[in-house]
Amino acid sequence: MYSNSETQSLQSAGKAILANPFSGITDIFQLTQLKEVLRFHEYRYYVLNDPLMSDTEYDQLYKQLETIEKTYPDWVTKDSPTQRVGSSLNQGFKTVAHLVPMLSLDNSYHADDLNDFDRKARELSATEQITYCIEPKFDGASISLIYENDLLIRAITRGDGVAGEDITNNIKQIRSIPLKAKFSEYGIQLIEIRGEVIMSKHSFHRYNEQLTAQGLAPLANPRNAASGSLRMKDPREVGNRNLDAFLYHVSYYQTINGQSVEELSTHAGSLQLLWDLGFKSPQKEKRISQGIQGVIDYCLEFEGVRDNLDYEIDGMVVKVNSLAQQELLGMTSHHPRWAIAFKFKARQATTFLRGVEFQVGRTGAVTPVAKLDPVYLAGVTVSSISMHNEEYIKEKDLKLGDQVLIERAGDVIPQIVKSLTELRTGAEISIQFPKACPVCKSELFKEDTEAVWRCINIECEAQVVERMIHFVSKDAMDIKSFGEANVRKFYELGLLKDIPGIYKLSFEAVSKLEGFGKKSMDNLQSAIEASKLQPLHRLIYGLGIRFVGETTAKTLANAVEQVYDFHSMDEAALLGLEDVGVKVAKSIHQFFQNEQNMQMLHELEELGLQLKNTKKESTGKDSLGGQTFLFTGTLTRLKRTEAEQMVEENGGKLVSGVSSKLNYLVVGEDAGSKLEKAKKINSIHILSEEEFLSLIEQNQ
Ligand code: IVH
Repeated sequence: MYSNSETQSLQSAGKAILANPFSGITDIFQLTQLKEVLRFHEYRYYVLNDPLMSDTEYDQLYKQLETIEKTYPDWVTKDSPTQRVGSSLNQGFKTVAHLVPMLSLDNSYHADDLNDFDRKARELSATEQITYCIEPKFDGASISLIYENDLLIRAITRGDGVAGEDITNNIKQIRSIPLKAKFSEYGIQLIEIRGEVIMSKHSFHRYNEQLTAQGLAPLANPRNAASGSLRMKDPREVGNRNLDAFLYHVSYYQTINGQSVEELSTHAGSLQLLWDLGFKSPQKEKRISQGIQGVIDYCLEFEGVRDNLDYEIDGMVVKVNSLAQQELLGMTSHHPRWAIAFKFKARQATTFLRGVEFQVGRTGAVTPVAKLDPVYLAGVTVSSISMHNEEYIKEKDLKLGDQVLIERAGDVIPQIVKSLTELRTGAEISIQFPKACPVCKSELFKEDTEAVWRCINIECEAQVVERMIHFVSKDAMDIKSFGEANVRKFYELGLLKDIPGIYKLSFEAVSKLEGFGKKSMDNLQSAIEASKLQPLHRLIYGLGIRFVGETTAKTLANAVEQVYDFHSMDEAALLGLEDVGVKVAKSIHQFFQNEQNMQMLHELEELGLQLKNTKKESTGKDSLGGQTFLFTGTLTRLKRTEAEQMVEENGGKLVSGVSSKLNYLVVGEDAGSKLEKAKKINSIHILSEEEFLSLIEQNQ
């Protein structure tokens, strides 16, 4: 898309504007240049995942553009980076026709099917060997984009294949889709492109975390998340969802002189052209194969790496590469004869919903859990699945005795996709949500804004036990060898009744229990002892305050000298902290105003726990001064989690990918593409594990 010299000149143009911001009168040339610079950085960030500028620098440039456009409103162009942000809400979506119908694909599941497909294609086109292009089958929501005179003028959902919904305003929020692309350089006036909008696995996890934190049911898979997002009323909301798009097909084009475009005479050529114009096409993922055997090999090879990708794919698409041959083969009314999908092994299964168990969590939330006939699904046997809340059961129309379709997408926990209502016999029974807590029998409550029923009796046995399980868990106080089973056992035997009780446990009584030999007793005792020195953020997280996850716990720990400081902070002061919104502030405030909770903290301190922010006191401990780190390959002396903890404890930050924002890449054995990528960015220091350890030592 950008040559080396263009990259260099756009990069220095950006730096120059930052060093010398525009002021007062601006000329249109400067404005055009600023827009070019911004577009370039969006491309580096969203399409290549390889930014050349920090977010703050980008924001500064963006703000300059906004200011200039406010001063000179006549100069606002449709392709300006500011024009992604629609100001108005979508008022329903208009139905519009596709330029050519959007067909589906024929499916195949075995190598034999691919051999059949190849044989038919060779017969029909009277060719001995066909050249194929193979690429991933993206699992998202299909879209069609129309560009006229280089501008994105319309984006449409698949709909019934002939006409779909006009979702242009929402699509403009996807930063990897250019608002302007220089098709005119190829003589193209009008073009229709097909592709798939997806939500990456990591964005999907983050989104589901947000939903569950709000007491809402998470979505079953990234596909639902992507297609749901495209129909949102508020385009800005779509922008917050971090959607992405792969474009893989040119379905129609018109040129100024009426002639065809050489680059578009093969499918691989179209992918290249799209890539060159700044689209995310599967340019790197595609493979060309002469004949079908290479196709089969690549499909199977890709199935093996499917879980390493950050996006969901449900198979591969095999396309005849030559467009002339494609035309010869033609289409049926349903699918083209020149392409076929090779579907990966199903991650869906059907089973019977036999019963529901209502579980009470540590915050009192009552979660219905479906009890299923055990069924094998993508590597695990599934026999129970969370149904989240009452709303979820209603929405999915789930009944006892139903056959249900379940799915496990990537490493995501299994979800019920739907009930197979057409298979009902009439004997199915509707699910009744209890009115009282299944454990302590007190009345359940539900707030208007929430979907969750709660037991508000904080003495409720279930909550007390769950709070302790959370407290000892790995991400909280990490009391090794304590764990859920021991909490339950000690509680049932009356050896443990609350969190401070963990530190008052009678080892004499425990040692008399079956399975607690000398060695396991020693381990348990030293793990409990060691946990007293855990850093403050782990304690705060372990307290199980509603809406306070690990990240917020870290923010909170850094904001105080000691945990009691929260008692004197009001909601406004808490709101001033990073990432703390109204709901979170309220919940933290409530927790520390509660006398029982304050008493528990005093008791924990008396029992020897660390309630002070030790990091704040020791000066050397943030000597890494916010520098960023990433680990790749296998470390030999440290576990990955230990190394990451060292970074954080010394004031460094962890990042998830190689970009110019990364300061140190620590390389273990068998490092792969991250190392290669990092070598290309001069500012990144590449360290061995030994060098990393001595860097930490120096800093202590
Ligand atoms: S080509 C006329 N290529 O899968 C052929 N489709 O199950 C146009 N899909 O409707 C489709 N990845 O929404 C093509 N690399 C890819 C694809 C792909 C995902 C979707 C597309 C299609 C559906 C068929």
